[in-house]
Amino acid sequence: MASVLDIGVDLGTSSVVIYGKGKGVVLNEPAVIAYDRDTRTVLAVGEEARRMVGRTPGNIVAMRPLGEGMIADFDLASAMLRYFVNKAVGKRLLTGPRVLISLPAGVNEMERHSISTSLFEAGARRTQMMERPIAAAIGAGLPIGEAYGQLICDIGGGVADIAVMSLGRIVVRDTVKIGGDAFDDAIIRYIRRKHNMLIGPLTAEDLKINIGSALPRAEQFYMEVTGRNLLSGLPRVMRITSDEITEAMDEPLHSLLEAIHSVLEHTPAELVADIFESGITLSGGGALLTGLCEAVAISLKVDCFLAEDPQECVARGCGMTLENMSEYGQFLGDKRKR
Ligand SMILES: Nc1ncnc2c1ncn2[C@@H]1O[C@H](COP(=O)(O)OP(=O)(O)OP(=O)(O)O)[C@@H](O)[C@H]1O
Ligand SMILES: [Mg+2]
Repeated sequence: MASVLDIGVDLGTSSVVIYGKGKGVVLNEPAVIAYDRDTRTVLAVGEEARRMVGRTPGNIVAMRPLGEGMIADFDLASAMLRYFVNKAVGKRLLTGPRVLISLPAGVNEMERHSISTSLFEAGARRTQMMERPIAAAIGAGLPIGEAYGQLICDIGGGVADIAVMSLGRIVVRDTVKIGGDAFDDAIIRYIRRKHNMLIGPLTAEDLKINIGSALPRAEQFYMEVTGRNLLSGLPRVMRITSDEITEAMDEPLHSLLEAIHSVLEHTPAELVADIFESGITLSGGGALLTGLCEAVAISLKVDCFLAEDPQECVARGCGMTLENMSEYGQFLGDKRKR
């Protein structure tokens, strides 16, 4: 019999990460799909589709089927998911894989059900769901089963999912629409306002990743970017400094810190004491922003740690649960059997 690869899946706004049981992360690709609008046929998925964003002719659309922690186009989201699952598992299997998936908080019950159905159609033998903060915490190695407060903030592309957990359950949770995309948008707005120049979202993301910092850097970095001069309408090259990017990101950063603060305010006192003792953990790709952990620590006066391989935490948490059901199975949410 063909060996079946059971998988843990993080269906995110920016990326889809798949962890194969016993193998580790086997797929990590942008959550982008390109399709022909006239015929609704899929042309490319993942990295290939991402390169098409903003570069397609009229009838072709390259888009992210999830946005701001919600499903923007359900059919495209399930087509993309099926493609990635098939790519990770391989198509010719005698028995389908067991899938443990973590979905954005904004996905409603009906959509959850439809995603399960869609995975069954793609050959999954069994689909189960795991709450994202729980998966992120397991993936980050936090001992969430103990009677002890843990705060994890998973910062993705679309949203930040902030949760306090104890005894394997979420005690307080807030999901805010401040992820990496909000930082990119703030950079676009800042450069338009300050330099009368329009840059694209990929350029804004490059600026954020390469020279961006939540706190002013001791040493200035520069990056040259090309955009459109809004006065002349012509292309223009400009040198942007790291301090400018720090300034540009001030507003979403402030909102993010406020959101974590507010979760702490709504957390029972004993659990707050635990969090002040053990610190806050950041996961998600957005947590990789230079200086973010320090900014959280300074602003909230509590230690802050960046999880190892933060962008893979949620998928890893799902995968680790499949690998060790006796330990982590108790933290699973709703179960769907075929
Ligand atoms: N080195 C870096 N510095 C700053 N931001 C980064 C870095 N690397 C990745 N990012 C950002 O991380 C975000 C994507 O993170 P991730 O892949 O965890 O999102 P996601 O899980 O798909 O989204 P969501 O959880 O909101 O559904 C993007 O906004 C990206 O720009
Ligand atoms: Mg995520």
